[in-house]
Amino acid sequence: MLEPIDLAAFPNDFAWGTATSAYQIEGAVAEDGRSPSIWDTFSHRPGTIDNGDHGDEACDHYHRWREDIALMRRLGTNAYRLSVAWPRIVPGGDGAVNAKGLAFYDRLIDGLLEAGIMPSVTLYHWDLPQALQDRGGWPRRETAEHFAAYAAVVAERLGDRVTHWTTLNEPLCSAWIGHLEGVMAPGLTDLTAAVRASYHLLLGHGLAAQAVRAAAPGARVGIVNNLSTVEPATQRPEDIAAARRMDGHTNRWWLDPVHGRGFPADMREVYGVDLPEQRGDAETIAAPLDWLGLNYYFPATVTDDPDGPAPYARQIRREGVPRTGMDWEVDAGGMENLLLRLTEEYGARRLYVTENGSAYPDVMGADGTIEDTGRADYLVQHLAACARAVRKGAPLAGYFAWSLLDNFEWAYGYDKRFGLVHVDYRTQQRTIKGSGHLYADIIRAHRGLEGRAA
Ligand code: IFM
Repeated sequence: MLEPIDLAAFPNDFAWGTATSAYQIEGAVAEDGRSPSIWDTFSHRPGTIDNGDHGDEACDHYHRWREDIALMRRLGTNAYRLSVAWPRIVPGGDGAVNAKGLAFYDRLIDGLLEAGIMPSVTLYHWDLPQALQDRGGWPRRETAEHFAAYAAVVAERLGDRVTHWTTLNEPLCSAWIGHLEGVMAPGLTDLTAAVRASYHLLLGHGLAAQAVRAAAPGARVGIVNNLSTVEPATQRPEDIAAARRMDGHTNRWWLDPVHGRGFPADMREVYGVDLPEQRGDAETIAAPLDWLGLNYYFPATVTDDPDGPAPYARQIRREGVPRTGMDWEVDAGGMENLLLRLTEEYGARRLYVTENGSAYPDVMGADGTIEDTGRADYLVQHLAACARAVRKGAPLAGYFAWSLLDNFEWAYGYDKRFGLVHVDYRTQQRTIKGSGHLYADIIRAHRGLEGRAA
């Protein structure tokens, strides 16, 4: 029996959204002047992606965005989190701006606004122009500066209609998974490169926040992190210390500097890599945040791993707990705890769950419907957790379900389906799943409460 969602906890103007990212849905990778990104390169490298999948066509959203906005309307959402592909806007990474790339997002934003849907625009969801990778990528300081210049271009063009901006999506993945674990683009396994990349990503965040605000006064700028609760596997002192390191690696490294606390001293020691710090960077990185985004999927239970890669802590697989099709543990309470941690420990004044969702193997029935009860239950449990967090004081202003559509799930390719809407990749036909209909019902029920006594 699932706990009911205390919908009355959410404010009347709660943002009910869905989220996607450019490379995962757009396709049209060689159209209208877009240049290759590191993900085009990586996904075409043999052996990197399950089934040899890549984003060349993806959900063909570049051509089908009107249909996709119509789907959002059917779901009843009032917000949509999208990312802009840097290689469409500044194909060389710096320098010349591609008018056709800007025109695409221009149309998309207008379409969303006409449909009564607030666009929330992410400037970087991992698709660095390959041209910049060829010049050193995120381990190099110039990349942060080029990022800010690109951010200014986008904000100048869209800032008259877009107020909600994200600089970076999940910089942890870009730095740690892309440069240390080698499982995401650019596919490096180099601690020094990873630490330098993490530094320049956060510097880029700060510079881009300034650039967006300068180009679009009134912009509300935030950053989106994927965080996890971290518990030690046992009460052994080694495991407790490992959990502390994993918390530093996953959470504090990304939260402390943007809150003016600098990079955590214990983690600097763990990595043992000099940061490429310059005078004034700490202040730039700590640019004021209008809001903070939490992407939440699973908790972590860790054990000491002295011979493994930094942070020398390894996530263990707990038995007997519910899991999604990603083999990720389901623990909605973890999201409640993180929302409260951001509120209490980091003083967040406005929070969004910018991603949350689950992949399960979907089966389409003979009648063409998809009864994805696992995903529907996950949604209800996590929204119930959001409501509990709000009741305890978390200033949660919106929830974006990951994802609107089934899409290219990075190294897992198309097999892992996170959508509230099913995509038949052969025909590009979209079908709202049971979880999508449920989400629409929840949104409608919340709207039905409007005008209630507080
Ligand atoms: O698909 C990703 C998304 O791009 C970033 N956050 C996690 C999602 C699920 O893995």
